Amino acid sequence: MKTTGNTVLITGGSAGIGFEIARLFTEKGNRVIITGRDETRLRGAAAQLPGATALVSDVGSEADVNALVGRLQADFGDLNVVVNNAGRAFVYDLTDPAAGAFNKAAEEMHTNYLSVIRLNEKLLPLLKQQPAAALVHVSSIVAFVPGPLVTYAASKAALHSYTQALRVVLEDTSAVKVFELMPPLVDTGFSREIGGASGLPPRAVAEALLAGLEKDQYEIRVGATEQVYQLYRTSPEDALRAMFASRKRAKAQND
Ligand SMILES: NC(=O)c1ccc[n+]([C@@H]2O[C@H](COP(=O)([O-])OP(=O)(O)OC[C@H]3O[C@@H](n4cnc5c(N)ncnc54)[C@H](OP(=O)(O)O)[C@@H]3O)[C@@H](O)[C@H]2O)c1
Repeated sequence: MKTTGNTVLITGGSAGIGFEIARLFTEKGNRVIITGRDETRLRGAAAQLPGATALVSDVGSEADVNALVGRLQADFGDLNVVVNNAGRAFVYDLTDPAAGAFNKAAEEMHTNYLSVIRLNEKLLPLLKQQPAAALVHVSSIVAFVPGPLVTYAASKAALHSYTQALRVVLEDTSAVKVFELMPPLVDTGFSREIGGASGLPPRAVAEALLAGLEKDQYEIRVGATEQVYQLYRTSPEDALRAMFASRKRAKAQND
């Protein structure tokens, strides 16, 4: 997949990993559209991305998604790359009966998994019209080995499974390629509570994505994700223990 001359939508492009992906695509001569819920933050981000369009939109809201898709169809008919990046995670004690685990898990599943399916369903007709197109799903190192954010990990595992299957289905029927970006711990606002300060800079994740797209590397396992994945292939149990231990260390370092 080429990484210049595309029209690229990035959900959650106003901060963190999504913003760095938007920045790199902008630098490489792509037309970029970013979304987010907080309008002030979104406009501030777009102001740093020459030529970018900012569209306020919550991936979890059907009305917002319908409005977004309508605008894309009307004004960005050459849209050919969609980066499903917006995500949600709760840090809570799963064993605490007052934690509200059901509602938190439901919201994670809604944002990280079901909302990706909805946006893809509505945008695939447009993507299929393009000579070359790509869907990128931002999952996580926890997509195949869960960590302490237990219900968040489950939502990313669901996204991973859907991504694998969609790739094969679309391979036979279209020119839409399906990529999965699997970052390890990354230093963003999102990961602050879980020791993210010791994580990778988000720019490195964006660079890994573009390098992966260029090579048609469909599963882009960034940094420590590759090591945990290799361990998982030889011993799923060791990988599980290693994941919990490393997150404990990261949190302790930052407390
Ligand atoms: N940071 C990590 O350690 C890490 C590791 C692996 C995977 N990931 C994944 O990487 C993705 C990006 O995370 P990040 O660390 O870059 O987070 P971040 O720094 O908190 O940025 C999240 C971005 O998404 C937007 N967003 C959040 N909810 C949204 C919604 N419902 N609709 C539209 N936009 C929304 C935010 O803007 P608004 O709040 O204004 O909407 C912001 O632009 C997520 O899918 C996350 O699961 C992160």
